[in-house]
Amino acid sequence: MDANSLARLPIDTDRAGQLQALLTDLDPATLTWVSGFVAGLAAERARAGGRAAAPAPPAPEPPSVAAPPAAESAPRALVLYASQTGNGRRVAERLGRSLEAAGLHAAVYAASDYPLRQLADERLAYFVASTHGDGEPPDDARPLIDFLAGRRAPRLDRLAFTVLALGDSSYPKFCATGRALDERLAELGARRLAARVDCDVDIDAKAGPWLEHAVTSARAETGTSAPRLSVVTPLRPAPSQAATREHPVEVELLVNQRITARGADRDVRHVELALPEQRFDYEAGDSLGIWVENAASAVERTLELARLDPAVAVTIDGTTHSLRTWLTQRREVTRLARPLIEQLAERSRSDELRAWLAPGGAPQLRAAFKELQVADLLRRFPAEWDPDGLVRALHPISPRLYSIASSRREVGDEAHLTVAVIDYERDGERRHGAASWQLANLVPGARLRAYLEPNPRFRVPADGARDVIMIGPGTGVAPFRGFLQARIADGARGRNWLLFGGRRREFDFLYQLEWLNALRKQQLHRLDVAFSRDHQAKVYVQHRLREHGAEIFRWLEGGAHLYVCGDAERMAPDVHEALVALVAEHGGRSQSAAQEYVAELAAARRYARDVY
Ligand SMILES: Cc1cc2nc3c(=O)[nH]c(=O)nc-3n(C[C@H](O)[C@H](O)[C@H](O)COP(=O)(O)OP(=O)(O)OC[C@H]3O[C@@H](n4cnc5c(N)ncnc54)[C@H](O)[C@@H]3O)c2cc1C
Ligand SMILES: Cc1cc2nc3c(=O)[nH]c(=O)nc-3n(C[C@H](O)[C@H](O)[C@H](O)COP(=O)(O)O)c2cc1C
Repeated sequence: MDANSLARLPIDTDRAGQLQALLTDLDPATLTWVSGFVAGLAAERARAGGRAAAPAPPAPEPPSVAAPPAAESAPRALVLYASQTGNGRRVAERLGRSLEAAGLHAAVYAASDYPLRQLADERLAYFVASTHGDGEPPDDARPLIDFLAGRRAPRLDRLAFTVLALGDSSYPKFCATGRALDERLAELGARRLAARVDCDVDIDAKAGPWLEHAVTSARAETGTSAPRLSVVTPLRPAPSQAATREHPVEVELLVNQRITARGADRDVRHVELALPEQRFDYEAGDSLGIWVENAASAVERTLELARLDPAVAVTIDGTTHSLRTWLTQRREVTRLARPLIEQLAERSRSDELRAWLAPGGAPQLRAAFKELQVADLLRRFPAEWDPDGLVRALHPISPRLYSIASSRREVGDEAHLTVAVIDYERDGERRHGAASWQLANLVPGARLRAYLEPNPRFRVPADGARDVIMIGPGTGVAPFRGFLQARIADGARGRNWLLFGGRRREFDFLYQLEWLNALRKQQLHRLDVAFSRDHQAKVYVQHRLREHGAEIFRWLEGGAHLYVCGDAERMAPDVHEALVALVAEHGGRSQSAAQEYVAELAAARRYARDVY
């Protein structure tokens, strides 16, 4: 402890001196034990009414990784999360910390890291599971789901559990993974501690009470009445400097350059951001989260159609803003929300809207979420609105994620992004995506609130001698620019193969010069492209994959890692199917054996996807 940190302690100098004398020469393990002892003491005194204490300093940012386990003797609670874009991981880690603070030994695992055979021996488990694709589990959780679904799944009669499902009600298969998991665990004999809770995009609204109940139920199940002094509460690390979703940090725009040619159907930008030192310790494969406000034009249009006064004050859960501020800073106006459609169906008495919400209406609902913004819906289904009702019907605004298209080893404290700008016409008016449009209009020097969304599943191989196959059409190519920079900086000896796709070579060949240069320097060893509108027959990356199936299979047999990034709706499933087909064809395997081969690749983290 140096003089500066002593000066910051909320105790007098004499006691600070005693504290320093006491701690001098203690080894790290003993220091950790002491920290737990003191934390336990503090918790006990707080519960007992405590002695008057000096005002506590602001709570440090919680650690971003699961807290180390409490004493082995403490009852164990398993927290298992299936998460693709980090929301589930954050909730699980929060639960882990709360359980530890309650005196339990919280074992927090990503589904892919958990030894599945151990599940039958667990007594108490909390599952946090998100849904991706079209009602699919996150890639990492596939082995867990398959294990439980299989005929060899163990009986779980000794297990008490509860599930927190994460999803987005704009998808027809809302929270499908959590629902399926909950049902299957019960079928296997496990006992529900509490009914499953489904979270929409405003995750905290439901996750907060679920977390509280989880801790209470864990105490009741294990007979843990309160934290005990013998339980080592983990030492919290020094306040983290890392930019997080809840605590984003300002970054500065350096470059905003269009990289599709004039005349292209799409405006795609290469964006370079200056990052404050040490706040974004990213690796190629991670994403950057960007918080934005809605454009004034989108907010005005929405308010005009709802026939509401922008200046009127609205109070929700104790927070008061003008209606304009709610819609600019706190609510989505470019993305629909299911509660909005439900409200509108009621207020407009529209049979059409009711039909969308009925069981057979999924296709219409899906199309609406894909194509319509809030104003489009308000125009089509006129209704009476009140300010409070409108704010409550809209989803809280969410940050947008962008794959980082650089490696810090190449660009230092910068992050590069590849952003497709959403800009189209509807009903004779321009419509824009909130974040991509704002990014497209920023000039150098502008500032944005950003944070790091790590993606540990999507990394270049630790062994640089491995080959990599990168499939990234459109903006899906972004992380592979980062991968290549990282591989070059690391001196990785393995070969690099990129499969890129777009509509037309002349307009959409993102980073063309960089790839061609890398090819020339033999840093990129193969480049295959598919431009769907350059030929009579539409050619996509999945066709190239099949065409070069024999070679792809040889690379895979030689230990290559294969990555897919970009469109989740059509490209990723088509590429997956092509991959299974080429393994069957060139590996001489049946369809099911080929599927198993691909599943094993994924389990070994040699087939990883980052799709959206
Ligand atoms: C892990 C991850 C990584 C990502 N990486 C990237 C990346 O590298 N590059 C990138 O560009 N994006 C990336 N995205 C997508 C990105 O996060 C945003 O979703 C995207 O930029 C749109 O956000 P927006 O705010 O501009 O549009 P929004 O404000 O979300 O507007 C979208 C709405 O506009 C409407 N709409 C959109 N397009 C059309 C259309 N063509 N026709 C009719 N209606 C339409 C729909 O109603 C839609 O709901 C990624 C997403 C994830 C989850
Ligand atoms: C590409 C994509 C597909 C999604 N598909 C679904 C879906 O089918 N059903 C659903 O309820 N939520 C869906 N979601 C929403 C996520 O489940 C939601 O954002 C969740 O909070 C993500 O949690 P995670 O970050 O832990 O993965 C999807 C999200 C993305 C990005």
